[in-house]
Amino acid sequence: MENSTEQKKVVMTAAQPTGKLHLGNYLGAVKNWGEMIENYECYFGIVDMHAITVPYVPADLKRNVYDCAAQYMACGLNPEKCNLFLQSMVKGHADLSWILGCICPLGALERMTQYKDKAKKHKEALNSGLLYYPVLMASDILIYNADLVPVGEDQKQHIELTRDLAQKFNNTYSPTFKIPEPYIPKTGARIMSLQSPESKMSKSDTNQNGTLYITDEPNVLRKKIMSAVTDSDSCVRFDPSTKAGISNLMGIMAAFTKKTYAEIENEFAGKGYGDFKSAVADVVIEGLADVRAKYKEFSTDKSLIESALKKGSMAAQRRVNKMMSKVYRKVGFMNFE
Ligand code: TRP
Repeated sequence: MENSTEQKKVVMTAAQPTGKLHLGNYLGAVKNWGEMIENYECYFGIVDMHAITVPYVPADLKRNVYDCAAQYMACGLNPEKCNLFLQSMVKGHADLSWILGCICPLGALERMTQYKDKAKKHKEALNSGLLYYPVLMASDILIYNADLVPVGEDQKQHIELTRDLAQKFNNTYSPTFKIPEPYIPKTGARIMSLQSPESKMSKSDTNQNGTLYITDEPNVLRKKIMSAVTDSDSCVRFDPSTKAGISNLMGIMAAFTKKTYAEIENEFAGKGYGDFKSAVADVVIEGLADVRAKYKEFSTDKSLIESALKKGSMAAQRRVNKMMSKVYRKVGFMNFE
């Protein structure tokens, strides 16, 4: 047993505690993480230290951590089978990020697209944490000596930096870190807003009818799907450039049913958009039934969430301690143990 877990590749990924997960988060990320827990040793982090790089309210942060953990568990991240940890509870992430920061060229951070976007948005209160964000993320990954990092396309640049920093550390000191590989799931569809299907589904969309939350009640899901923006052509056909709305709904249906676009087109040949949307609603409501039921159960049980996070964070801490004593030795720090 012990041996077989030791040979498993290590998967590490994380997300900020944003509160409610939407269908894009679920189909593009969390559902895939859940599918990895059988075959890999997984560390899934809720990165509350990253969350404070922009203005926030402490009480909301705490509530969002509970809520996110409940949703992750409802989506299948069984705390018995993976390590669901809270970043701030594991000592070492910040220490390693300091060490990595000292070998990271400033220019590399100033060039990060996400930093540049966020810096524009938070012009008045631009703090150094925002610039330093990718170094903390590199630390999150390297501190577990992870093999694979499941992330979305938008995090590729941060993973590149992580790989560069691992390489630089290995060259500056001696071989220590594995060079982690990004794992970008090949799920066909990017899930777009139902109301403006040219942009990604998002929690911050001003029109919340375009965003399906995994905890939405069936009647809410149905209402949002039935009022999704389509086109005047009334033919169910996959063509994101001219039929963005319908193509997005087809992507959602395909993700839940594993049907191909051709199969969906055949099934709805000669039928109207109303029938199609109604079928999409059925699939989504059914596909999220289990998540919804589990979330209801978990979200009312704080101690269940706490013990899951505690267990995961303690396991994470054990791995981190091993890695950090190595790092301390290499960089010339003392270790009184
Ligand atoms: N920056 C990531 C995001 O916004 C979140 C994150 C923090 C992360 N640390 C990580 C992702 C480590 C993967 C691995 O999605």
